[in-house]
Amino acid sequence: MRFDILTLFPEMFGPVLNNSMLAKAQEKDLLEVNLINWRDYTQDKHKQVDDYAYGGGAGMVLKPEPIFRAIEDLGLEDDTPVVLLTPQGQQFEQDTAKEFANHQDRIVLLCGHYEGFDHRIREELVTHEISIGDYVLTGGELPAMVLIDAVTRMIPGVLGSQESAQEDSFYNDLLDFPQYTRPQEYQGLEVPKVLLSGDHAKIDKWRKKKSLEQTLNKRPDLLEDAELSAEEKELLTE
Ligand code: ADE
Repeated sequence: MRFDILTLFPEMFGPVLNNSMLAKAQEKDLLEVNLINWRDYTQDKHKQVDDYAYGGGAGMVLKPEPIFRAIEDLGLEDDTPVVLLTPQGQQFEQDTAKEFANHQDRIVLLCGHYEGFDHRIREELVTHEISIGDYVLTGGELPAMVLIDAVTRMIPGVLGSQESAQEDSFYNDLLDFPQYTRPQEYQGLEVPKVLLSGDHAKIDKWRKKKSLEQTLNKRPDLLEDAELSAEEKELLTE
């Protein structure tokens, strides 16, 4: 997967891209990131990327020309998504991450700042508008990093079998079951006996029940959409 990131603050991405899974994914050539400062595509001596809004108003608006030039320079195929990170966008969810990881090999991310973009950028260049939640951040860089992280870990080969995405919270519409490791007893707190039993059928059943309980307690809204089997329904009422 290749991400082309258009941003006025490329330095913000270093710590995220150069550590942990994202660094490993790049080493394995499963992830490639191209950071573009679209200020480099200005042609005036002040390298101006924004200007006053037509019609008046306090905030500055991002100018179209440098962004059009930067995207033209990428030489994109017609079907490459150009994603604008904005609180006005569609809510980003695990399914969006899966969809991008499974169906795209290149994604362009456009990170805004200030009051907003000249509308012609949205009309002509942007194919998707994505929000990471109903709150307003100072720019699109953190949302872009969230998207890259969530999409990259869904690319086959990025997670080892140890960290498999199959059992993730949200993967099957349910939250994770509780996990324990050594020691068996800590400050009087015991690991549930069933996990020490070696009986895998029993352990699977316990985990499924705990997943259902956690989801019911913390995120009951997820169960409204989940398609529960007869067995799962029974576990919930046991
Ligand atoms: N830019 C500012 N806030 C944002 C948000 N919540 N999601 C995506 N982009 C943003």
